[in-house]
Amino acid sequence: MTDDAAALYLGLISGTSADSIDAVLVRFGAAAPQTLAHLAHPWPEPLRRRLLALAQGEATPDLDQLGQLDVELGDHFAEAALHLLAHSNIPASAVRAIGSHGQTVCHRPGGAHPFSLQIGNPAVIAERCRIDVVADFRRADVAAGGQGAPLLPALHAKLLVRPGHARVILNLGGIANITVLRADGGVLGFDTGPANGLLDAWCQHHRGEAFDRDGAFAARGQVAPALLAPLLDDPYFALAPPKSTGREYFHLAWLARRAPLAGLEPADVQATLLELTARSVAAAVLQHAPEAEDVLACGGGVHNPLLMRRLTELLAPRRVESTATCGVDPDFLEATAFAWLARQRLLNLPGNLPAVTGARGPRVLGALYSAPAAGSS
Ligand SMILES: Nc1ncnc2c1ncn2[C@@H]1O[C@H](COP(=O)(O)OP(=O)(O)OP(=O)(O)O)[C@@H](O)[C@H]1O
Ligand SMILES: [Mg+2]
Repeated sequence: MTDDAAALYLGLISGTSADSIDAVLVRFGAAAPQTLAHLAHPWPEPLRRRLLALAQGEATPDLDQLGQLDVELGDHFAEAALHLLAHSNIPASAVRAIGSHGQTVCHRPGGAHPFSLQIGNPAVIAERCRIDVVADFRRADVAAGGQGAPLLPALHAKLLVRPGHARVILNLGGIANITVLRADGGVLGFDTGPANGLLDAWCQHHRGEAFDRDGAFAARGQVAPALLAPLLDDPYFALAPPKSTGREYFHLAWLARRAPLAGLEPADVQATLLELTARSVAAAVLQHAPEAEDVLACGGGVHNPLLMRRLTELLAPRRVESTATCGVDPDFLEATAFAWLARQRLLNLPGNLPAVTGARGPRVLGALYSAPAAGSS
């Protein structure tokens, strides 16, 4: 395929927080990508609960349930894409491909048989949207000995590099990950540990709310040093990159295992989990990118003023700002990355950065699910 600068790509992702399906329509040309439209398509609440329980290992589906869930999710991803097209008045025929990350239900890049499993049947999306779909982005990297994650750094390096300056891109999703853009052009990246996933889980458990809006619940509490210390002692934080993690590791059962929670005020635990996120991110930045002049944050965590304030304090004098200050919408950068990865796949170009994931080499990522032929029923 030749690079058609006018071609549009549609990116779809539901992250580890399972807060919504993010959908974005992007044109990639020679210049910066142009975002034509975006939307966050909410999961129905009962389905969202099922997804979270599954990702945290609380509910293990049998094969029938897993197969059906894969299709059910594929339908929701298709709906998100169709809504975006309707909302932007763009015909499906104008979209070259959809890049669909799917929903991670288990990410285990270590061990004898490493894998990273995403569901949300891509064939269903291709059939319903009548657009080619690229999916299963992590498998080739894992098969090549990599973590299969994070996959955002390649696009971060293209979009947000400031030549001659060191900078960090921080994604505050369910899990936090950093991309280090070195002044000499080198790129490093890894998951630093938990972010919104644990904050959401504790808030849901104690307040029945999906997330701690503006950090208000955490702000009512005090950091509990006796809880924070054993959490920060988790061996994941000291592991050298490449490394990646997920909700199957950092979940409420992990929290209860690391430290006794009895006698603690729920708001104090929320404050401590927020502090854990800020400290673990700051430690990773200070260890791996001490020379960074600024930290550009994206992901839902940029909307938590308490978290952003603690990061600013811990990382001073470096500037900690949203990617919005560089004209990049912090809520849709991840979906944009999967639109970009779909384009890399169609152009037969690699999508991973081996220095980040630890793969043996660059790999073309993703599998192609073709749309029904034009005119077919
Ligand atoms: N106003 C806000 N105050 C506090 N937290 C917020 C606010 N808005 C969003 N969030 C947090 O952001 C989360 C969603 O972030 P995001 O979509 O980046 O995560 P994700 O989908 O899990 O992504 P990833 O795949 O990177 O882990 C919500 O679950 C919530 O915790
Ligand atoms: Mg999300």
